[in-house]
Amino acid sequence: MTIPRTLFDPAGCGLPSEADIASLASAWFPEFLKPLDSGGGKLSPDAASGIYAPQVLSKDPAGKPGYPEGQGPFPGPRYGSLSADASGGRYVGARSLAAIRGDFPILAEKVHGHDLVWLDNAATTQRPKAVIQRLTCFYERENSNVHRGAHELAARATDALEAARNKVARFIGAPSPDNIVFVRGTTEGINLTAQAFVKPFLKPGDEIILTMLEHHANIVPWQIIAEETGARIRVAPIDPSGQIILSEYEKLFNRHTRFVALTQVSNALGTITPAADMVRIAHAQGLRVLIDGAQAVSHLPVNVAALDADWYVFSGHKIFGPTGIGVLYGKREVLEAARPYQGGGNMIADVTFERTLYQGPPAKFEAGTGNIADAVGLGAALDYVDAIGMEHIAAWEQELVAYGMKALAGVAGLRLVGTASHKAGVLSFVLDRCHNEDVGRFLNTKGIAVRAGHHCAQPVLRFFGLEGTVRPSLAFYNTFEEIDKLVQALQELTDRRK
Ligand code: ALA
Repeated sequence: MTIPRTLFDPAGCGLPSEADIASLASAWFPEFLKPLDSGGGKLSPDAASGIYAPQVLSKDPAGKPGYPEGQGPFPGPRYGSLSADASGGRYVGARSLAAIRGDFPILAEKVHGHDLVWLDNAATTQRPKAVIQRLTCFYERENSNVHRGAHELAARATDALEAARNKVARFIGAPSPDNIVFVRGTTEGINLTAQAFVKPFLKPGDEIILTMLEHHANIVPWQIIAEETGARIRVAPIDPSGQIILSEYEKLFNRHTRFVALTQVSNALGTITPAADMVRIAHAQGLRVLIDGAQAVSHLPVNVAALDADWYVFSGHKIFGPTGIGVLYGKREVLEAARPYQGGGNMIADVTFERTLYQGPPAKFEAGTGNIADAVGLGAALDYVDAIGMEHIAAWEQELVAYGMKALAGVAGLRLVGTASHKAGVLSFVLDRCHNEDVGRFLNTKGIAVRAGHHCAQPVLRFFGLEGTVRPSLAFYNTFEEIDKLVQALQELTDRRK
């Protein structure tokens, strides 16, 4: 893909101070952390990335080149923070949890007179200031349609969008930005794959393998194309902990199997599936696999090459980015083999009334004007977590999950749902003699946000004999203290019911 390059100065976006600009910029564009050529304050291109950056942003606030040794990309809290006590003085990698929490303005909200405790991260995550500011910057300095204008702002907007595509590719280990299709979210990415890639080769009697753990978004699109073609769905079972039984999964393959779609992390239970092994088993049968990464990307380092996924999909809002933007990764050959999903502008090479020639991927799948600003915002979100380090985020969250599971298990009458030894982010439970929705409402009076209900994953809850659970779900900005508040509130509720 040819990317127009332009000079612009994102530092003029009305940001609070030069020090803030430097740390914000580091969150937006890690490229700024690389030493840049001296440009006397002018813009200078980074030869490696081809992305232009204002030279001032390569300096720390004291004017030295680069950031001080050991301080990492974030020199310190920027937007106020909880006291060290509230975050236990803990660190996620090189960055203090108090400083991280300070990056998320909404975490300072009060709800019903209490500090907000955001434990609904599986539904959506909160956005750091770096993302909010990046969106503001886009609309204030860069907004235009992309890939078609002859003017400066079209070049700025195209640069910003394609830089975001590059960031996504790097973040998930894709070989090229051309493997990255921007979609509305996970749901659209799965529907696109089903309609554009799988449906055209399905015949009556063909089979698609899913797992018991799937979100409705990774069930219904396959049912729709199965109904339309006479294919059928087969389901890999789970054990009582909520983990896939690999040997049973393996037995589902036969000469009718045509495709496999599986989640990497269950949204209802938090189970981390053996996705790489499952892909290997499918590939041994010559079959392609889609991985739903919606609940994985914010919790684990993801590498699509290591997973050998043919398709991988996730949503921006589940990883601290905007809503309405998501990513569909495809290997080059599957993107080329898939037919267009929607027709329109941007995806064509030439149109006559007799026929249309299409662009290659990813443009082939991006008909019409896409969600440009939010793709740019997603790029900023990935920069933000990248700067902290997904391996550090995963390690901290593992501590939180272990702490949470142990603490909740101590509440009288509480049954944990989903106890796999490999799990991420989710602490689903039911409470004796309490409706899930009542528990959710009671926790809300304490400022604690959780989801209660079926979590768009009815089949797996019914496997456990349930129609719903209460689902606290974690992100790396959560603390042990917040889990303590959750447990105290649940204890108060059960005490009241004695
Ligand atoms: N998929 C989201 C959830 O699990 C909405 O809550």
